[in-house]
Amino acid sequence: MKVTVVGAGAVGASCAEYIAIKNFASEVVLVDIKEGYAEGKAMDLMQTASLNGFDTKITGTTGDYVKTAHSDIAVITSGIPRKPGMTREELIGINAGIVKDVSSNLIKYSPNVTIIVVSNPMDTMTYLVHKTTGLPKNKIIGMGGALDSARFKYRLAEALGAPISDVDGMVIGGHSDTGMLPLTRLATRNSVPVSKFLSEERLEQVKEDTKVGGATLTKLLGTSAWYAPGAAVSGLVQAIACDQKKMFPCSTLLDGEYGLKDICIGAPVILGNDGIEEIVEIELTDAEKNKLQESAAGVRKTNGLLEV
Ligand code: 2OP
Repeated sequence: MKVTVVGAGAVGASCAEYIAIKNFASEVVLVDIKEGYAEGKAMDLMQTASLNGFDTKITGTTGDYVKTAHSDIAVITSGIPRKPGMTREELIGINAGIVKDVSSNLIKYSPNVTIIVVSNPMDTMTYLVHKTTGLPKNKIIGMGGALDSARFKYRLAEALGAPISDVDGMVIGGHSDTGMLPLTRLATRNSVPVSKFLSEERLEQVKEDTKVGGATLTKLLGTSAWYAPGAAVSGLVQAIACDQKKMFPCSTLLDGEYGLKDICIGAPVILGNDGIEEIVEIELTDAEKNKLQESAAGVRKTNGLLEV
């Protein structure tokens, strides 16, 4: 199992680190455009191998995609991150060109690769990869919902005063401050609906805190977060590499599911060796359906800025 991670910044390096620590991949190749940067991060990570007990071989390259040849999975984290006060959508101008170049370089050397898109605005960048690579739709996955759901569970556990392992919940819709749809109705504490423990107002607060999860961190850190994004990506990579058939909300090309077509947006999917093996359609209330349509309208507006 060979995994390429493009972008050796904080998200890419965390992602490589979590993949290595889980010890399921034989090789991780880090790629960056900054001279020596990916090589340096790879070497530093390799020097943790004996300490952390992994055998995954991590190498780095300054833009030499030959080294990525025959990758099974590639993660695209490259592009500029947001600064405090910026929305993910504002990054489209620079990031679209980068994501287009990176994905065409990847498929040149790994025509059967499965691509996981992390770069923002993520749903639109996932759509761009669909429009420009010709890869089958099951092999293009946007990472947003897995991260947003982890942030949702964090906020739920905080509100409940419960351990996170007691909590389950999912966020669908667009990976944006306004487009996320944390499904409080379906969230549970050890199978019991969370509404049994939390008032409507408290649940509303949990939803709002979840939606601005990335923005809150960007304000605190001065740049976009990396630990949770890296961990979320490593979970998706592992589900595919180990054929786990695990369900995550991911940005996926919809073709009529949820009443939407020709758009990449977060919906629950089953991940295994074939990438997205199934899109799961869950029953939504009318209010949730309306929110999802609004979220899709926002994603389409950003997609409209793409020159494809
Ligand atoms: C986030 O932290 C990376 O979009 C990303 O939400």
